[in-house]
Amino acid sequence: MAFSRITGLGYYVPDNIITNNDLTKWMETSDEWIQERTGIRERRYFEHGKDTNYSMAAAASRQALERAGLAPNDIDVIVYATITPDYFFPGSAFLMQRELGMDGKPVIDIRQQCSGFVYALSIADQFIKSGMYKTALVIGSEIQSSWIDKTTAGRNTAVIFGDGAGAAVLTATEDPQHCILSTHLHADGRFAEDLFVKEPGSSRPGRAATKEMLDEGGFNVHMNGNAVFKHAIVRFGEVINEALEANGYQQSDLDLLVPHQANIRISDYVRQQLGLDEAQVVNNIQRFGNTTAASIPIAMAEAWEQGRLQDGNLICLAAFGSGFTWASALIRW
Ligand code: COA
Repeated sequence: MAFSRITGLGYYVPDNIITNNDLTKWMETSDEWIQERTGIRERRYFEHGKDTNYSMAAAASRQALERAGLAPNDIDVIVYATITPDYFFPGSAFLMQRELGMDGKPVIDIRQQCSGFVYALSIADQFIKSGMYKTALVIGSEIQSSWIDKTTAGRNTAVIFGDGAGAAVLTATEDPQHCILSTHLHADGRFAEDLFVKEPGSSRPGRAATKEMLDEGGFNVHMNGNAVFKHAIVRFGEVINEALEANGYQQSDLDLLVPHQANIRISDYVRQQLGLDEAQVVNNIQRFGNTTAASIPIAMAEAWEQGRLQDGNLICLAAFGSGFTWASALIRW
């Protein structure tokens, strides 16, 4: 029986730091409001001409591969999560595959928004468990800064999001004590419009993308922040407990929670629900904002660098996002 083990983690964030005070140049907001409601102090924005969605993913992947002791061509499959691809099609996985010289290797582009990385991890895990592949590269990479409306009209989402990429290398193992124990995926399309970008959309009269759509704000992120908040605090707890119960564990068995970095208030609420102390939850939203599919692999890679992922630890990844989607992965490190 094959299992998958995470053998390398890497991340890349652009050098360009945007503080809350920087945002006040473009919109009516304040450092105090943003920190109080979201916990965010600063985020990174990509630099045009230097960073692309796929180049950030490639940088994160190189680091993850080096830490796993593997070369790009040792990888059997790439699963790449992003909602902000370089092109409308083909997906960014193709561009990153080319960048890393992995020609001919299969690539899978997925979306799944803030749950993208956990969904991608689950897909890669199934390939390895089935025996079809022995190694996988799982990516979350986002450039949100070119999508958000940086005027006062867009301030409820503009202050939240940032750019960055994270990557994990998965390797087949027969050791059930050091592997991904299970993954749990959910979705509820009834709430699709509570957090979405409407355009460009194909089901429109005329062209799929027009100047009118741009003028009407159809390319902007629309969020019902209240609905997102209310569902997130319930679904996070549910999907973490589901992972624990599926493996015969209790909340007190958990060593570390790596939640999607949506909002510090959501993360704190979930931590209290589960009876975890602050050191048991990874939070870096203060420095990077919400980087959508990239947030969990960035947080995991940082936690690994800080020595917070120790041999034998029980670690849970949990995500919630647009769709709505929510998902978890339980890992014995
Ligand atoms: N700066 C200053 N004021 C702002 C603001 C900003 N960036 N964004 C919104 N406001 C204002 C609103 O206009 C509103 O003003 P009004 O009372 O005069 O109408 C007021 O602040 C409260 O707005 P509201 O949207 O009710 O705030 P909130 O307390 O619900 O907080 C969020 C907004 C977005 C922080 C909160 O809803 C949230 O965290 N939701 C979850 C979002 C999330 O995690 N998204 C990612 C999911 S993966």
